[in-house]
Amino acid sequence: MYNIAIDGPAGAGKSTIAKLVAEELSFVYVDTGAMFRAMALYMLRNGVNVESEEDVGKACNSIDITITYADKEQQVILNNENVSGLIRTEEVGNTASKIAVYAPVRTKLLELQRELAVKENVIMDGRDIGTAVLPNAQTKIYLTASSKERARRRVEQLEQNGIKSNIDEVEADIIKRDEQDMNRKIAPLRQADDAKYLDTSDMSVQEVVAAIISQYNIDKQNK
Ligand code: DC
Repeated sequence: MYNIAIDGPAGAGKSTIAKLVAEELSFVYVDTGAMFRAMALYMLRNGVNVESEEDVGKACNSIDITITYADKEQQVILNNENVSGLIRTEEVGNTASKIAVYAPVRTKLLELQRELAVKENVIMDGRDIGTAVLPNAQTKIYLTASSKERARRRVEQLEQNGIKSNIDEVEADIIKRDEQDMNRKIAPLRQADDAKYLDTSDMSVQEVVAAIISQYNIDKQNK
C-alpha cells in the first residue's frame, strides 16, 4: 500500500489539502485529529478530570473508537454513536490537545491508525504520522504556515459557519496548542527527517495540492 503522511500544527490546512489530494489520487483520507477529538468529547461529556493521567487512562478502557466512510467522508464512531458533527468546536480541539499527551490515549489510537494504513492507500494527517505512526510512509509532508496566517484562515472558516471570533484570541489559542503539541514527551509534533517542508503562508490551496502531488510522483519513482 502507498502511504502519504501529512503533519503540521493546528490550522495549517492539513485536512483541506489532504482531502483534495486524496480525491485526485483516489486515496482514502484519514483524519487522526478527529480520533483524538472523539476521545476528548467523551472526557468532556463524562466530566473526566483531564489534568489527571490516571483518570483519563481509566476512561480509555470505556471508549471504543471506529472509523467508517459515508460518501467518502470519514465518520468517527464513539461507542456506537456517530460523533462527527460534534467534535469541531474549539473546546473539543483544546481538550484533544491536552489528553493527547497521555500514553494510554496515544496507544489506543495508534493501532487503529496503523490498521487503516495497511488496508488501503491512505493520506493520513495529524501530528506524529511521519515520525511515529507510519515511519515507513513513502511520502511525508510537513505542512505549516505562520501563526498569524493560520489564525486568519481559522477566523474566515468560523465566519463561514456564522461564528464571529477575535483574531488575536484565535492566534493565542493556536500558539498555545502548538506549544502543547510540540513539547509533549510522547510523539511530539516535529518534522520527520525525510519529510518535505512546505510553508503555505503565501501559497494558494491549488499550489499546495500541486506541490504534494509532484512530491508523490518523485517518491513513487524512487521507492
Ligand atoms: O488536527 P486537530 O486539530 O483535529 O487535532 C486535535 C488535537 O489532537 C491536536 O491539537 C493534538 C492531537 N493530535 C495528536 O496529538 N496527534 C495526531 N496525530 C493528531 C492530533
